[in-house]
Formats: sequence, structure tokens, C-alpha cells
Amino acid sequence: MTIQTILRMGNPLLLQHATPVEQFNTLALMQLIDDLWDTMRANNGAGLAAPQIGVLQQVVVFGMQDNPRYPDANPVLEQVLINPTITPLGDTMTNGWEGCLSIPSMRGLVPRYEAIRYTAFNVMGEKFTYDADGFHARVVQHECDHLWGVLYPMRMTDMSQLGFVDALDGVSSTEK
Ligand code: NI
Repeated sequence: MTIQTILRMGNPLLLQHATPVEQFNTLALMQLIDDLWDTMRANNGAGLAAPQIGVLQQVVVFGMQDNPRYPDANPVLEQVLINPTITPLGDTMTNGWEGCLSIPSMRGLVPRYEAIRYTAFNVMGEKFTYDADGFHARVVQHECDHLWGVLYPMRMTDMSQLGFVDALDGVSSTEK
């Protein structure tokens, strides 16, 4: 288990498509997943995708109980998604504040599908399907975007709603 360096926005690897995992139940895959958990937790992340530590494979981890970076968010179950696909459930989009460990100290207001169905494989190569809404659905969409080379500012529709956390905090105390 190793805490890896997280690539930051501007690194071209974050804009590339990750390739599907083909070999399941391997030591290398398990070590990658361990590194993702260790690196995510060491940075209080709600999720982390393999490209963020420089590995262009379709693997993400996410989930949290109490997270100081997201004090108002509901708990999200911990899951590993390999080769995920997402289908929106309905057309409803909701705006919500997001951060990203690859874009430290910033937050942006990002529209996401309110409800989704996602399918993925676990480390053993078993396929599963899950429905999610709210913050859980947001986290899955954010993390899977990393696999397609998309960072959250690229999903924003109003760039005036991008800012530094410490500057936004003064605003949110009156506007929340
Ligand atoms: Ni991110």
C-alpha cells in the first residue's frame, strides 16, 4: 500500500481516455486499488480515479462516511468500479458544488444527472449494476469522467461559479 502523488490539472494524462481492464483478480489490479484507497483517504477525498495517479486504466474508488471536505454531504457507500458505464435515469440535472483532488483548493458548481444507473465489474471480474441519486450519483459521474479525460470545470455551464474554497466560504455563509 502506497500513497501516490496525485496529478494536477494541466497534466496531459488527465485529459486522456483510460483503457478497460482486461485481466481481473491479479496482484497488480489489487495493488492499484489499494493505492487508490490509500491515496484517496490520505487526502480526504470522496473518490479517486486511476488516471489521477497516472494509471490510464478504467478503475475508480469512492465512498465516505464523515468527510471534512464535504461536511454537508450524506454518507456514500464505498465501492470499486472497474470498466464502468453510466446510464442517466431521466433528464433531470441538478447543480451541486464539487471539488477534485487534481484541482486543489477550488470548488465549482457543476450540473449532473440527478439519478443514474451504473454497471461495472468488481476486482474478481463480476459484473454488477447499481442505481444512485443525489450526491452518490454526482460522485460516480465525477469519478467516471476522469476515465474519459473530463475534469469538472469542463462540465460547468457558469464559470462565475468556480472559485477558491477559502474565498467561497465567506460567500456561502450568507448565501447557503
Ligand atoms: Ni476528481
